[in-house]
Amino acid sequence: MTDAADFVTETRVFYDTVAEEYADHFGDLRPGTPLDRGVLHGFAGLVGEGGEVADLGCGPGRVTAYLASQGLSVFGLDLSESMLAIARRENPGLRFVRGSMLELDVPDSSLDGVVSWYSIIHTPEEHLPALFAGFHRVLRPGGHLLLGFQFGDEPRRYEEAFGHTVSLTFLRRRPEHVAALLREAGFTLRAQTLREPDAAGGEPVAQASIVARKPPETAV
Ligand SMILES: C[S@@+](CC[C@H](N)C(=O)[O-])C[C@H]1O[C@@H](n2cnc3c(N)ncnc32)[C@H](O)[C@@H]1O
Repeated sequence: MTDAADFVTETRVFYDTVAEEYADHFGDLRPGTPLDRGVLHGFAGLVGEGGEVADLGCGPGRVTAYLASQGLSVFGLDLSESMLAIARRENPGLRFVRGSMLELDVPDSSLDGVVSWYSIIHTPEEHLPALFAGFHRVLRPGGHLLLGFQFGDEPRRYEEAFGHTVSLTFLRRRPEHVAALLREAGFTLRAQTLREPDAAGGEPVAQASIVARKPPETAV
């Protein structure tokens, strides 16, 4: 099994290195991806006005800000202090905290929603069950989870990005596989989308999203 400390450190170092360039490039929800906004908007509607949500792996906070604009009470969490500095600078009214989504310091059953928008993409396969169990733990019964990730089988390793020497693997995944792991973690599936690549926006592969739910408590 990959030692969690290794890939987490590699991920943090990568995003600390490229944070400003990443934010310039991806800082806004790109105008070319209104379909992504549609998914995020739908998730916000399922969670409901005022719902408490964690944006895990928030990066520069673009999704955090969008969900806040949709009426959610949302905070961002990220490994990278440089990303968090940008998120705080760009969104002074929102709360951003440092941490790993693999070791969530969040009480059980305390959130109405969890978002991991392109942040599971650096978590190796063998750590996904524990990651999804953690998402399930912090959600209230009936709470919703939203994942976004690149579609595919072949990982892509970057040794250079935005002119920096770096080292990080980007993992692509098949939605049906992720869905099966979510079911094993106790979720029920609500929606899956597969969006074609936005070639003009530099996307080489299709983009997947999954909305899942921690089942509501049933009366006995
Ligand atoms: C591709 S960026 C996506 C950022 C943001 N969600 C967005 O859509 O713009 C991935 C982010 O996830 C964060 N991340 C990856 N693994 C993480 C972990 N285990 N805990 C917290 N953050 C993590 C990285 O530091 C990085 O900021």
